[in-house]
Amino acid sequence: MSITDGMKPVIMTITGGPRKEGDSAGMLRRFTRELDVRLVEYSAYDSGFAPCTDCRACRQFEGCAMDDMDGFFADFEAVDGIVIASPVYNMSFPAPMKAILDRMQRYYSARFFLGKRPPIVKRRPVALLLSAGSEEEDGETASRQLERIFTVTNCELVSRIVLFGTDHPFTRSETEGEILRKAAEFGAWLTVHH
Ligand SMILES: Cc1cc2nc3c(=O)[nH]c(=O)nc-3n(C[C@H](O)[C@H](O)[C@H](O)COP(=O)(O)O)c2cc1C
Repeated sequence: MSITDGMKPVIMTITGGPRKEGDSAGMLRRFTRELDVRLVEYSAYDSGFAPCTDCRACRQFEGCAMDDMDGFFADFEAVDGIVIASPVYNMSFPAPMKAILDRMQRYYSARFFLGKRPPIVKRRPVALLLSAGSEEEDGETASRQLERIFTVTNCELVSRIVLFGTDHPFTRSETEGEILRKAAEFGAWLTVHH
């Protein structure tokens, strides 16, 4: 039986940061509380997934030479939507989260070396929830990184929320209203497409 055989849409969540009670994890809890979905939860730090080694096996066959992410990839291809919640580290994602993104190279190879169009048939919405210490951080770099990957994994970045300025209580932005509004939009997307 597939994980998506139930009545409710299934959402993969990926926490990119190490802090279980951190700001981005809090945004994820708040966002998913608004959705009537089943969650398949991953933590980049707990997963211990290895980084891509550019061995190029994925140019020869559809898949990855390393098997540590087999379960993750099966879930990733099956789910109805994805929510990524992460702190911004040096304008990007923390290293374990970046490792997951780089391992998506197998889909790039499937598309451009093996001619699979598209490598994943099902189109899925993605919400990106970022927390950042600086009040100048707009999440643009992290979003652009994801968009490169999403073009080959049939994903669409439908919402982005940045909780910025977390370094100081007086610069910290307010995201409650935005979370409610964007979670409702995300839920509506799922209802239309599920
Ligand atoms: C290694 C490291 C790098 C960071 N780089 C940035 C950065 O480039 N821009 C920024 O705004 N904040 C940066 N921060 C601050 C975190 O993004 C911020 O504290 C965030 O709110 C933590 O989220 P969390 O509570 O979900 O872990 C960095 C923090 C660490 C530990």
